[in-house]
Amino acid sequence: MTTPLEIDPHARSSAPAPQPATIVIFGGAGDLAHRKLLPALYNLHVDGLLPPSTAVVGVGRKPLTDDAYRQFAREGVEQFSRRPLDGAQWEAFAASLFFASADIDDERGLAPLGSKLDVVEQARGLKGNRIYYLAVPPTLFVPTVRQLARSRFITPPGSGPFARLVVEKPIGQDLQSAMAINDAIAEVFAEPQIFRIDHYLGKETVQNILVMRFANSLFEPLFNQKYIDHVQITVAEREGVGTRAGYYEQAGALRDMVQNHLLQLLALVAMEPPHSLDADVVRDEKLEVLQSLRPLNDTSVDSCVVRGQYTAGTAEDERVLGYRQEHGVNPASTTETFVALQTFVDNWRWAGVPFFLRTGKRLPTRASAISIQLKDVPPILFNTDKARRLDANVLTIRIQPDEGFSLSIESKVPGPHVRVRPVEMNFDYTDTFGTASPEAYERLLLDVMAGDATLFMRRDSVETSWRWITPALDRWDELGPASLPVYPAGTWGPEAACHLIERSGRRWRHP
Ligand code: BG6
Repeated sequence: MTTPLEIDPHARSSAPAPQPATIVIFGGAGDLAHRKLLPALYNLHVDGLLPPSTAVVGVGRKPLTDDAYRQFAREGVEQFSRRPLDGAQWEAFAASLFFASADIDDERGLAPLGSKLDVVEQARGLKGNRIYYLAVPPTLFVPTVRQLARSRFITPPGSGPFARLVVEKPIGQDLQSAMAINDAIAEVFAEPQIFRIDHYLGKETVQNILVMRFANSLFEPLFNQKYIDHVQITVAEREGVGTRAGYYEQAGALRDMVQNHLLQLLALVAMEPPHSLDADVVRDEKLEVLQSLRPLNDTSVDSCVVRGQYTAGTAEDERVLGYRQEHGVNPASTTETFVALQTFVDNWRWAGVPFFLRTGKRLPTRASAISIQLKDVPPILFNTDKARRLDANVLTIRIQPDEGFSLSIESKVPGPHVRVRPVEMNFDYTDTFGTASPEAYERLLLDVMAGDATLFMRRDSVETSWRWITPALDRWDELGPASLPVYPAGTWGPEAACHLIERSGRRWRHP
């Protein structure tokens, strides 16, 4: 029996400490702040991880008093926090929250924010370190950054207090627009000051991929074309588009999930061991993987990239609408809500090993997992029965839910005869550590305060990923709606997704 360990969920060895700073959240009264950022900051406060003088200043167009903002934050914490709201803890945290209104279009529009920051920083003894968090629609990224520069809010790196920028995805709609945003930001912030969020990298299980690979001598020697048959990465969502049609209609699953989350997962599984945990060393190795992905062209997009869109169906025993009937969706929309693809990492380590990626909305369950399937054992000894070949060993990393990983191995069934069957060795976070993992945003906010960019997307990686998916975007534009397969809500995507993997003699593993 495992005894749950009393551990600090944020225990980090030799990591830089978070510095006291003012966190300025543009879009401070918006959905992301309400559901994720303010609850994450509250949990960091409860865990004693937030430097005590930290101040949070929400910024929005509409004026709000500090008290009204605290009430808004309180509701967010009540609904979305990992820990329940505790009266005394809340009072102390609430005292660090403030609000300022700003009009980005007006030349003097940041003046009230400037005055507010002076007062808050003076009162809390802060030295002027600032984190500017852009929790706003992407169209406002560049105007906000330019306005910050024009209003002299930004200090160059190395000259006194720090100024850091946090940018949420989507960074662009395609390679060109991503480069334009990155160029505009680079006029104001140097790359080490920029923290591009991919919240998957903040998930505990995703961080554990590197620990699993490089802190155990069991797995790493097997991670190559000699032993691995193929890799599957599935990020399945049960939810539909919900209230986000305005954004999703312009994005679709390839831009929304594959360009960032799935390719980052692939990079972590496939990267070479870095020579240190320095942010740029780790990110260099991940970039190498993205640069080694086999380029797509019209023919490979047609044969190896499947898209789909959900139609009406059943989810959790309820009838649900098809994508085109959802609120805010064009009834003739060609936006894909599902993508499955096969690719190869064309380097020495992975030559010939297919990587299958799959993501979609309105699938039967919410489950993200990476399965690394080893090669079959030879057809001798215990594997001579042609009709019933032994199952291959599979290492499955469960990213969510039921965080953990399992290894399926063959074992002898007890008894007088030699009978062999697969069994699972299982590691479960909650059983082992007895605590719910911190939310991705908790870790990521802490890292921005500490100036540790390891878990953030560097410009070259964002642009390499865009470059890689561009042939698929272009091809689908060219083909139009004619080749858009559909799948009923609550199923595992269009049939073409099964054919994609079955043609290679393999099958999807449903998490
Ligand atoms: C976001 C996407 O980046 O990730 C959403 O924009 C998606 O469409 C979400 O639902 C999934 O995140 P998680 O953490 O719930 O798996």
